[in-house]
Amino acid sequence: MTRKMRNANLPKHRDWRGNQRRHSRADQYRSILGNGGRSAETADLGKMLSCAILYITMGLFSFSPKGRLGIDIGTSSIKIVELAKESNRFKLSNYGAFELDPGEDKMVSKLSNADIIGGIKQILSTTGMTARDAVASVPSFQTFSTTITMPQLSERELAKAIPFEARKYIPVPLTEVQLDWAVVNEKDVFLVAVPKEEVNRYREIMKGAGLDLRALELENFALIRSIVGNDLSPICILNVGGRSTSILIVENGFQRASHDYEIGGYEITSAIARSLGVNIKRAEEMKKSLGMRNISDNIIKEAVVSLINSMILEVNKTIQNYEDVKKSKIVKIFLVGGLANMPDILLYFSEKLGRTVSFGNPIARVVMPAGIDPLRLSLNLSFAVSIGLAMREI
Ligand SMILES: Nc1ncnc2c1ncn2[C@@H]1O[C@H](COP(=O)(O)OP(=O)(O)OP(=O)(O)O)[C@@H](O)[C@H]1O
Ligand SMILES: [Mg+2]
Repeated sequence: MTRKMRNANLPKHRDWRGNQRRHSRADQYRSILGNGGRSAETADLGKMLSCAILYITMGLFSFSPKGRLGIDIGTSSIKIVELAKESNRFKLSNYGAFELDPGEDKMVSKLSNADIIGGIKQILSTTGMTARDAVASVPSFQTFSTTITMPQLSERELAKAIPFEARKYIPVPLTEVQLDWAVVNEKDVFLVAVPKEEVNRYREIMKGAGLDLRALELENFALIRSIVGNDLSPICILNVGGRSTSILIVENGFQRASHDYEIGGYEITSAIARSLGVNIKRAEEMKKSLGMRNISDNIIKEAVVSLINSMILEVNKTIQNYEDVKKSKIVKIFLVGGLANMPDILLYFSEKLGRTVSFGNPIARVVMPAGIDPLRLSLNLSFAVSIGLAMREI
């Protein structure tokens, strides 16, 4: 259903207030919705979370009056980055994560609103983040998106025509979703539908955390912004998270295909636990220390290799399919997400795919404050979505 995109114009879209804007290619996507309103009544600050926290860490320092927050509520953790804009460049002010004990077998994104609010507040207070403007993401698997062809119409006409057209593509009643779109070029419109329930949930969470939700957008869009930037070549981004792996194909800076595969770090840890008869906590430690290291008798590699192979099979299928249909060659593959930190997983992906795979490098577009090691890989890999969110124009 996707069409070859012409490059002539940068896409136009409306911001959440309805004003038409023209963004740079890296920032071509609109938010799904607008504001939640600053602060108001917040959840009980002293409320104990009903779940064990693994860690809240990593506060930096600087005070940033014009900063904004990128908030990624994933299945295994909440990750927040605070960026400040200084003479047109983004500077990292602060970052922090809230992660559940993997032994708890809970998903952060499925916790109660009050617990998620508590988690966000803990990151903010522990790290001393001061920005209140927030951009948050919705995981792609909770959304429906596609590219449709429309005649050239004004913004106002499009606003009327798209809901009619969207009925053909959105498998649920339009009254249940928040519909949004970005004009890609003269013909193509990228359509996104997010369940209203989800949108309202994010509004409530951000409001409860005392934040001003300035934009809510698809996780993939944030990744395109932080990993791809203005690169127009055909690129594949693999985001291997806690419970899922998303395979995203981007060409001309625009999402062309995506596939979500429901295996992530948690299944890898569970496979280690099962195979070695250890508890989840121990399995998690072993995964992080040994991973896919190419050493003799690596029992961890043996325990997880079939799962990793199945993941690679999915990646290969998605890439092959795209290349066959679009007659286009994927020239770069970037690996991000928490599991990308697993020892030697990059090497294994490269070998098995028979293609060069590199780590995504979102901090390449961000000025790092003195004292922070720019090569700090876990920041780069785990915070790729939140960095992209915080880079969004609001
Ligand atoms: N050093 C490491 N080695 C191996 N695995 C790691 C390492 N650091 C984090 N992980 C794994 O990464 C996973 C979490 O990744 P990430 O933070 O991207 O998930 P998420 O965004 O919460 O999940 P999702 O995107 O699926 O909603 C966990 O399974 C965790 O064990
Ligand atoms: Mg994630």
